[in-house]
Amino acid sequence: MLSLMKLLSLFLLIIAVAPPPAVDGQLKVGFYSQSCPSAESLVRQTVVSAYANNPGVAAGLIRMFFHDCFVRGCDASVLLDSTSSNKAEKDAPPNNPSLHGFGVIDAAKTAVEARCPNTVSCADIVAFAARDSAFLTGNIFYDIPSGRRDGNISLFNDALTNLPSPLSNASTLIKAFAAKNLTADELVTLSGAHSIGVSHCSSFRNRIYNFSSTSQTDPTLSPPYAALLRCVCPFNSSLSGNTTVVMDLLTPGVLDNAYYLEVQLSLGLFTSDQALLTQPSLSAAVNDNAGNGAGWAAKFATAMVKMGNTEVKTGKQGEIRKNCHVVNTVSTLWNEGEEKEGEEESLVANM
Ligand code: HEM
Ligand SMILES: *[C@@H]1O[C@H](CO)[C@@H](O)[C@H](O)[C@H]1NC(C)=O
Ligand SMILES: *[C@@H]1O[C@H](CO)[C@@H](O)[C@H](O)[C@H]1NC(C)=O
Ligand SMILES: *[C@@H]1O[C@H](CO)[C@@H](O)[C@H](O)[C@H]1NC(C)=O
Ligand SMILES: *[C@@H]1O[C@H](CO)[C@@H](O)[C@H](O)[C@H]1NC(C)=O
Ligand SMILES: *[C@@H]1O[C@H](CO)[C@@H](O)[C@H](O)[C@H]1NC(C)=O
Ligand SMILES: *[C@@H]1O[C@H](CO)[C@@H](O)[C@H](O)[C@H]1NC(C)=O
Repeated sequence: MLSLMKLLSLFLLIIAVAPPPAVDGQLKVGFYSQSCPSAESLVRQTVVSAYANNPGVAAGLIRMFFHDCFVRGCDASVLLDSTSSNKAEKDAPPNNPSLHGFGVIDAAKTAVEARCPNTVSCADIVAFAARDSAFLTGNIFYDIPSGRRDGNISLFNDALTNLPSPLSNASTLIKAFAAKNLTADELVTLSGAHSIGVSHCSSFRNRIYNFSSTSQTDPTLSPPYAALLRCVCPFNSSLSGNTTVVMDLLTPGVLDNAYYLEVQLSLGLFTSDQALLTQPSLSAAVNDNAGNGAGWAAKFATAMVKMGNTEVKTGKQGEIRKNCHVVNTVSTLWNEGEEKEGEEESLVANM
């Protein structure tokens, strides 16, 4: 009887210790728990200190995750610099000059490389940094699966074709999200990220000047808000190239559901924000989220995890970039890349 119990507890122990069955091509929570146990905490420390210095970086990092995942999947392609022969995503108008937070990713990568070289992908660092930013700004916490590998291609035009413009209407937005296997409800949920951060005047100037032949202002924009925006953003766009406005008038630094209340009140900043009221299924979701902050936060966490699975490279695909700005050279791959711990681990997990 005793030995049966021992056998049973040994069996249970094995079950408890064995890694969760990993399906090929899937990410898992705690991917670096063996190969680099401090990876997630090093990223978190870096984001926390950058946020203490400049709270605006959190919005930049959440947006960076979205812009990475929507273009060639979550593979850190957004971090690659242009080269003499190639203009990268980073330099395309949806990203340049507005996307920021690259220095935080570099600092996190440096910290992680010092502890565990050639192990943690830039793509996972972006995903961790976005997760930590949601916690800092919205007290929204979720585990984010990891094991992403870095891509080696970044094309200017991909950013233009995959990232929806702020001038988009509802059907264009739904299509852009459907192309990434995200639902219309997830479109509404994730748009709540616009409850933090800032926008350049160029992203909404269409709504405040010369909107149509009959109206200076977009009629779906609150007139007093339009007047305020005209004060900050002059008509001559070359005078306001760097001017930004907060996107959420009520709680600009807090990731919360105030965004949905604002959309209801015609205080959404972009055409694409206000477009969420133009289709019944979307506007129902706006109303739900406006009335249920905790429910929205839970949906936001789930949708961020799902967006983080978009077209990921895993296992032997891609590489662990040494410097997030550039692809590894062939020699780095041969000298160091072949013996990466993360790679070994994912091989074991895939067996
Ligand atoms: C639904 C389609 C979306 C469109 C058309 C859109 C467009 C934009 C634009 C034009 C800006 C302002 C850029 C600037 O002028 O500085 C912006 C900012 C931002 N977006 Fe989106 N976005 C969308 C969805 C998302 C999603 C899914 C997320 C993340 C989950 C997100 C997160 C952010 C954040 C946090 C900012 C503020 C960035 C900062 O402060 O630097 N957006 N977005
Ligand atoms: C939405 O925008 C697309 C692209 O600009 C356009 O082709 C389409 O007709 C628009 N749909 C509606 C309902 O306005
Ligand atoms: C969407 O899902 C389909 C079917 O599972 C898959 O083939 C496709 O690669 C997915 N697309 C993206 C962008 O994740
Ligand atoms: C509005 O646009 C028209 C042409 O579409 C242009 O002639 C006019 O100068 C513009 N007005 C303002 C105030 O920008
Ligand atoms: C806009 O401002 C720039 C810089 O001051 C100036 O050179 C240009 O003439 C202005 N354009 C218009 C249409 O006022
Ligand atoms: C915008 O910022 C850049 C870089 O900081 C600066 O060179 C440029 O003069 C600024 N433009 C305006 C219109 O303030
Ligand atoms: C990108 O990586 C793939 C294999 O992962 C390789 O075949 C290809 O040559 C690489 N391309 C560049 C531009 O480095």
